[in-house]
Amino acid sequence: MVSVGATVVSRIDPDGRMELAWDGDRLGLGVCVDFRRVALRGVAKLALVRACGGRGRVVDATAGLGGDSWLLAGAGCEVLAIERSPLVLRVLADGLQRASADERLSTVAARIDLREGNATELLPTIAGEWSAIYLDPMYPAKRGHALAPKSIRMVRDAVGDDADADALLRAAAATATGRIVVKRPHGAPSLVCPPDAQFESKLVRYDVYLRAGRGFRTLRDRTA
Ligand SMILES: C[S@@+](CC[C@H](N)C(=O)[O-])C[C@H]1O[C@@H](n2cnc3c(N)ncnc32)[C@H](O)[C@@H]1O
Repeated sequence: MVSVGATVVSRIDPDGRMELAWDGDRLGLGVCVDFRRVALRGVAKLALVRACGGRGRVVDATAGLGGDSWLLAGAGCEVLAIERSPLVLRVLADGLQRASADERLSTVAARIDLREGNATELLPTIAGEWSAIYLDPMYPAKRGHALAPKSIRMVRDAVGDDADADALLRAAAATATGRIVVKRPHGAPSLVCPPDAQFESKLVRYDVYLRAGRGFRTLRDRTA
């Protein structure tokens, strides 16, 4: 069993799945990654997928529990998923392994290559042409707002608030061969500078920095 700040742990649940859980909670009450629950019908129409340009090779630099990686892979993208928290990575890797062994999910699972590490350091070392680099850093919980889903609260307790998100975006701008996409809550300011385009969904928006766009050039200026 591994813990961060003695609050969140990863452990095996009664069904043999790795779960993320608050320390002291009963076994089986945690969050595990089960991609059988994710409906992929109509996935190509999602704002996330359209913001990332549809099919292509995408780096998901903030993989978390893999929900967005799975949707992108379900839409046909080849995804390199990077996660720096060993605790979160362990739970995602377990879910991906089970998906690989499931004949209905294995084709999608095979499109996801999971790596452990800090994307700010890894991005400059990754060779190849990527159509998009996708960032979904944790943002601070808002007081007075509806309670976030359990999985989000648990990942936040495990990893904190990702206060270095601007540095990650700058690293992406220094290495991107395609667009950069950043998920933000409605009403939150953009990271570093305004984007070239935005895609809205009911709960969030996606800021898109296009390689030939003013936002991308500004990002690069602020990186140099
Ligand atoms: C909001 S969660 C991402 C949720 C994810 N999009 C999903 O669908 O499950 C943010 C995750 O990004 C990870 N992260 C933040 N900055 C990172 C970095 N520089 N390198 C790798 N992982 C990072 C955090 O550890 C956390 O697990």
